[in-house]
Amino acid sequence: MAKKTVLTGITTTGTPHIGNYLGAIKPAIDMSQGEQYNNFYFLADYHALIKCHDPERVAQSTREIAATWLALGLDTDKATFYRQTDIPEITELTWILTCMCSKGLMNRAHAYKASVDANRDSGKADLDDGVTMGLFSYPILMAADILMFNADLIPVGKDQIQHIEMARDVAGRFNHTFENLFTLPEAVVDEETQLIPGLDGRKMSKSYDNTIPLFGSSDELYKLIKQIKTDTREPGEPKDADNSTIFQLYSCFSNAQETAAMRQQFENGIGWGDAKKELFEYLDAKLAEPRACYNELMNDLGAVEEVLLKGAEKAREVATPVMDKARIAAGIRPLTYVAKAKEEKQKKEKSAEAIARAEEGRRRGILMQLKPLLDTVEQAEDKNAAAQQIVAEKSVQVENLKKKAKQKAQNELDLLQEELAQYL
Ligand code: TRP
Repeated sequence: MAKKTVLTGITTTGTPHIGNYLGAIKPAIDMSQGEQYNNFYFLADYHALIKCHDPERVAQSTREIAATWLALGLDTDKATFYRQTDIPEITELTWILTCMCSKGLMNRAHAYKASVDANRDSGKADLDDGVTMGLFSYPILMAADILMFNADLIPVGKDQIQHIEMARDVAGRFNHTFENLFTLPEAVVDEETQLIPGLDGRKMSKSYDNTIPLFGSSDELYKLIKQIKTDTREPGEPKDADNSTIFQLYSCFSNAQETAAMRQQFENGIGWGDAKKELFEYLDAKLAEPRACYNELMNDLGAVEEVLLKGAEKAREVATPVMDKARIAAGIRPLTYVAKAKEEKQKKEKSAEAIARAEEGRRRGILMQLKPLLDTVEQAEDKNAAAQQIVAEKSVQVENLKKKAKQKAQNELDLLQEELAQYL
């Protein structure tokens, strides 16, 4: 079976945090390590412009996310790692897909609906207040990201499932209207990795302002860990590991043995301060190596840029022919373009005609040879007897001949029978 293509994008508006790492980056890198999949991972910097109009932040986030994935060991010889804006075919495909997408479908997109709901709740007369066309048609750009590479599997958070379904709808409409060109993608959601708690115990997310940056300094890491919410249990009192953010974060990184040992410490009543210190020391050690690598890359952005441009080259090798086909399917063609299928059909039609003509020629050739025999029948008194006799003689002749000559005689016999059918 052909390898499946896994594709996902990361919007470049923030600094990668531990939730991003565990929920998206690590699983994506893991998936790219075997030989099972073709992997496409990209920086969705056009998506960044939808929600962020601070150019410095978009640019800095793009640097940080690129360096993070590389520092964590993404093998860019295996996975195709690129920046969305380096693939002009994506915006080109976006337009064709925009023309394949009903406005009603976009009206139902969660992100857009949330803005409309917020406007309604705050009593605004214009329900579309603050909604850009970028936000409104954001799922189409995302569909282009996905369909461009005929991706099968899209690892995403729950909030993105609807967008993958929209990509399927748009692909289906294109395939039906023009030509069956695009793979219908499928969302892959890992429930477990969606539950990384942040400093306040809610899901770690930029929008809750409760994140722990992945590659902050040791001091910063400790400062944040000390802010993790705990209950009022004193040192010595047994603590509920499963309801503790400290324990949960620890166990996201630790192996079974380490997790069991930490659970034991909770049962033994480790103090919150000590538990935080242990978590800090553990994470700081785990992150030390990739952090050093990250810092190196952030000081050598030319090298990172080069990696991205190479990735873009690889990505465009796939995107360019797909875009050519999509354009042609939709009717955007050189003036002299003749459809391949049509060309082939024409060729086929021509050859069928040629075969018929050749057959007619063969038949006439044989008939010419047989003319004297046919004339004999025509002139005979008893045409039936004459015809019977000629066919019988030919039959005997056929029987007595060798293969090749036999075929020739058989052809003659067939024709004689056909021509003389009225008399036989
Ligand atoms: N919209 C996605 C998010 O905010 C990022 C994204 C853009 C994406 N294009 C994509 C994810 C294509 C998967 C596939 O998380």
